[in-house]
Amino acid sequence: MGILDKHKFIETNATLLLVLSFLVVSIGGLVQILPLFWLQNTIEDVDGMRPYSPLELTGRDIYIREGCYVCHSQMIRPMRDEVERYGHYSLAAESMYDHPFQWGSKRTGPDLARVGGRYSDEWHIDHLRDPQSVVPESVMPKYGFLENRMIDGKYVQDLLKTHRMVGVPYDEAMIENAAADFLAQADPDADYDDMLERYPGAQVRNFDAQPGISEADALVAYLQMLGTLVDFSTFTPDASR
Ligand code: HEC
Repeated sequence: MGILDKHKFIETNATLLLVLSFLVVSIGGLVQILPLFWLQNTIEDVDGMRPYSPLELTGRDIYIREGCYVCHSQMIRPMRDEVERYGHYSLAAESMYDHPFQWGSKRTGPDLARVGGRYSDEWHIDHLRDPQSVVPESVMPKYGFLENRMIDGKYVQDLLKTHRMVGVPYDEAMIENAAADFLAQADPDADYDDMLERYPGAQVRNFDAQPGISEADALVAYLQMLGTLVDFSTFTPDASR
């Protein structure tokens, strides 16, 4: 029997073909899955990463609710054109507290993984209100209504608890002070030292420059944090893991 005849024999025997296909697929699957059981951790520890502050986490919820991820990715790939445009490629650790992750799948607008600090708060507020006023050719919709929707952090403690349930390491003090920390981050006149101790590097400002805390405050607090937690001037990949 030549090799082609043998193959014909397999191809014309549905059961044998099924059994052999299953074997091949299983081997392929095991080769991919088994090593994960011997790795201690698939995500490298990186200095600076911390759970999102209550205000940032609220902003992230608004980002998801408004479908920003439909047009924006948060995942810089390690290719030269991306790194030159957006900055250091994204690390796994940078989305370790994202449930669900915001890598996105389409870029109608630019990647936002490192948009934090690239523009002023004022720019963001103008841009959300009317994107075409700052980028005339923009096709981004207007989100001015976010400035008029006031929020008080009433449920932010539940939000933190929910994220803790899925593995984000919010400790007791963070849960207990969730509402106070939420208010403190948007009020430069408040006593925000404890909040900063819990969330190092959190930016304290009245982001939308109007009285009270609006959804725009939370969203801009989130955007201004993106990509700023890891200090890439000191970061070196750890090859020993
Ligand atoms: C219909 C697609 C679309 C949606 C939805 C969308 N954007 Fe955009 N966005 C764009 C496009 C296109 C640009 C580039 C032009 C510009 O700056 O307006 C952009 C630019 C941006 C920029 C500036 C990025 C940079 O590096 O210059 C930010 C920040 C941003 N969007 C945030 C958001 C947020 C937050 C939301 C959700 C509230 C959102 N976008 C929803 C299409 C979209």
